[in-house]
Amino acid sequence: MIEALDRLGGLLIDGDTPHANGKLDVFDPTTGSVIAGIATSTPSDCVAAVEAAAGAAAGWAATPPRERGEILRRCFETMIAEKDEIAALLQLENGKPMAEAAGETAYAAEFFRWFSEEAVRIGGEVRQAPMGDKRIMVLPEPVGVSLQITPWNFPAAMPVRKIAPALAAGCTTVVKPAPATPLTAYYIADLMARCGTPPGVINLVLPEPPNEATVAMLAHRAVRKVSFTGSIAVGKHLLRLAADRVLRTSMELGGNAPFVVLADADLHTAVESAIASKMRNTGATCVAPNRLYVHERIADDFTEALSARMAGLTVGYDRRPDAEVGALISTGERDKVAGIVQTAVSGGARVVTGGRAPDCGGYFYEPTVLSDVDPNASFLAREIFGPVAPLVRFRDEAAAVEMANDTDAGLIAYVMTGDLGHGLAIGEKLDAGMVAVNRGIISEPAAPFGGTKESGIGREGGFEGIEEYLERKYVSANW
Ligand code: SIN
Repeated sequence: MIEALDRLGGLLIDGDTPHANGKLDVFDPTTGSVIAGIATSTPSDCVAAVEAAAGAAAGWAATPPRERGEILRRCFETMIAEKDEIAALLQLENGKPMAEAAGETAYAAEFFRWFSEEAVRIGGEVRQAPMGDKRIMVLPEPVGVSLQITPWNFPAAMPVRKIAPALAAGCTTVVKPAPATPLTAYYIADLMARCGTPPGVINLVLPEPPNEATVAMLAHRAVRKVSFTGSIAVGKHLLRLAADRVLRTSMELGGNAPFVVLADADLHTAVESAIASKMRNTGATCVAPNRLYVHERIADDFTEALSARMAGLTVGYDRRPDAEVGALISTGERDKVAGIVQTAVSGGARVVTGGRAPDCGGYFYEPTVLSDVDPNASFLAREIFGPVAPLVRFRDEAAAVEMANDTDAGLIAYVMTGDLGHGLAIGEKLDAGMVAVNRGIISEPAAPFGGTKESGIGREGGFEGIEEYLERKYVSANW
């Protein structure tokens, strides 16, 4: 499988894999060794991909929704049938534990299933104008060609979360996967072609370096939408480019999630929710708790129990099949996490467990708990994206809510409490697009995922997800 990718991967334009222009090495983060060299795209390859998507747009928009839905349904079924190969590839290039790679593959496939069902439920509206003088018809239309830029932390789920609603709505796409993890995206594009997606409907490019090609694609008249998941800084850059062409945008950007443990929280629920949310993907998710605010009445017990759980997790050195903690994506990411811990410690934080990058081939960092963190520590404003849990004590609940909201990000907030009503009330005060009460993981294809403030614009998944790829045309007619 890897040999085939070495030969073909990286470009898929109009159903074809044109001659490669350059090669990008893809690394196995658990060992640091090269696993494949994948073809890269020039800016003109990328423009050709946009033109292929533009050429396929009218035909795809006119394809009956039932047919579009059935192709997506076949993608779901094929992804499930091939889940072991996909998970193995995903694990290899991303470094997450095998169990998580399998979970992500199933999660990704569910976006195909959800949007195969949504494809046939796109509705319009007919209303009467208030003065009674005309009818107002509101008709859905696909936005058009979309550029979809995806991150390395979920190499299967993030591309499918964008591709499936676009295709369900009748849009064609150019997908640019993360250079660190392009192999899974290539596999998915190939799988989609095998399931009957016509040439040109999904095109895949891998420009390296990406900026010039991205600028060229966004400047192309055929592109009508850009969807991006990644950092706030890159999101702002893309928003500026999109502004020049007044493009529709969906931005799933970074988070700085607060995890608030109230005095009456059930200790076991709070600890297990913290482990589930903090350690998913080794902490490299934008929904990972970045700051854990713990009421002083429960703080000692919580610190002890969380540290014991973190210390007991199995780290995936030597590609252990039973790993619960994976590698980070690169030495750069590992060093960044180590730097954050160093800054925390020099600011007075105490390492309760972990706090080291072990001396081994892969890009690992130990599961780490930091206690006695100063609530004003500047590192709390940075997204950690690694297996480090900083604990801040609080006495006053209102102050905890204020600290939780004191950030430019607003993706998700967590509340742990024994009183559900109280948790829901606190949830209303937390400034975030998503709130988890007594749960660690809430990501779900049928739910709208997205943030407020600098965490982004738009929603992915749920009924809302397909709306991101639809225009609403108003038609007024006398009849
Ligand atoms: C992320 O984008 O980091 C999280 C994605 C998800 O939970 O679906």
